[in-house]
Amino acid sequence: MSATQPTFTLNANTAISAVGFGTYLISDEDAETAVSTAIEVGYRHIDTASGYQNEVTVGAGIKKGLQGAGIGRKDLFVTAKLWPGNLAWGDAPKTGAQTIEECEASLARLGLDYVDLYLIHAPYGGDMRLEQWRALLEIQKSGKARSVGVSNFNQQHLEEIEAAGLPMPDANQIELHPWSQKPDLIAYMAENGIAPIAYSSLVPLSTWRVEEGQDSAKTDQMKADGSAFATMAANYNVSEAQLLLKWGVQNRYAVLPKSLNPDRMRQNLNLFSFIIDDVDMARMATMDRGEGVAWASGDPSK
Ligand SMILES: NC(=O)c1ccc[n+]([C@@H]2O[C@H](COP(=O)([O-])OP(=O)(O)OC[C@H]3O[C@@H](n4cnc5c(N)ncnc54)[C@H](OP(=O)(O)O)[C@@H]3O)[C@@H](O)[C@H]2O)c1
Repeated sequence: MSATQPTFTLNANTAISAVGFGTYLISDEDAETAVSTAIEVGYRHIDTASGYQNEVTVGAGIKKGLQGAGIGRKDLFVTAKLWPGNLAWGDAPKTGAQTIEECEASLARLGLDYVDLYLIHAPYGGDMRLEQWRALLEIQKSGKARSVGVSNFNQQHLEEIEAAGLPMPDANQIELHPWSQKPDLIAYMAENGIAPIAYSSLVPLSTWRVEEGQDSAKTDQMKADGSAFATMAANYNVSEAQLLLKWGVQNRYAVLPKSLNPDRMRQNLNLFSFIIDDVDMARMATMDRGEGVAWASGDPSK
C-alpha cells in the first residue's frame, strides 16, 4: 500500500486503502489508460464491477499500471462486484452456483487470481439474496476474495443476514456525501462491524457527471446549490472535490473518486495536507437531504 494513504480495517487480514479509483462510466476506449495512469500517480485501490462492462480493459490498465509503477499485485487493493440479477428488470437472480461462476468470470476478465473485496452490487437478488451471500462466503473461503461484502444494502437487507445467523459483510458500499449521510444505517453498520465505503462523493459538484447520458436523480435545486462548499474549501486552500472527499475519509469511509483527467486524479488523492475542523464537520452534518441520487432509477435498495 502507498505509504501516505491511511487504511481502514475490513477483517482480520484485510485493510482497504482510503482513496480508491472509481471506474463506473469509463468506456473501454478510455479504461486502460485511465486505470494505468491512476496507479502511476499513486492510487493503490481500484473499484470495479461486472456491471460497468469494462472489466477487460480495466484489467489491462491494472497490469500496465503495476508495471509502470514498479509495484506488485499485493500492493494494490482491487474490488469487484457481482451483478446479482433483478427480477423487476426481467433478469433472473443468480443462484449460488452462478454467483461463484460469475466471480470466476470477473477474475478471468480482470486477469487476476483473486480480488481483495468482492461485493454483491445491489440487494436485487430477491429470494436468492441469502444464497448469493452464502456463495460469497464460499468465495472468501476459497481464497478468491480476501474480504466480502455488499453494496446498496439497507438495514433491512443487513438484518436478513443477521437473522439467518450468517457472518456479517465486511463492508457495505453506499452513496455517502454531505447531502446523503444515512445516519441510522451507518450506526447499525458500526454496531455490526460493517465498514462503510462511500461512492459518488462528488455529487454536490457542478462538474459531477455532466456528459450526455450520465443521467441521475439530481434535482434542479441541487444543481443550483452546487457551490455551497466553495467557501469552506477556500478556507483550507483546497478544491471543493478535495473537501467532499476528505469529509468521507474523516468519517472513516474509504472514497472512490472517478476522473479521466490526470490533474483531477492527483488532486483527488491529495487529501492529507489538511484537516476539516470540528466547526465545519458539524456544519456539514446538518446538510443531509436523505436518500442519494446516483442511481437514476431512485433508491436501488427497493
Ligand atoms: N456500488 C454502486 O452502486 C456504485 C454506484 C456509483 C458509483 N460507484 C463507484 O464509485 C465511483 C465514484 O462514483 P461516481 O463515478 O458516481 O462519481 P464521483 O467520483 O463522485 O464523481 C465523478 C464525476 O466528478 C468529476 N470529477 C472528478 N474529480 C473532480 C475534481 N477534482 N473536480 C471537479 N470534478 C471532478 C468527474 O468528471 P471527469 O471524469 O471529467 O474528471 C465525474 O463527472 C464509481 O466510479 C464507482 O466505482 C459505485
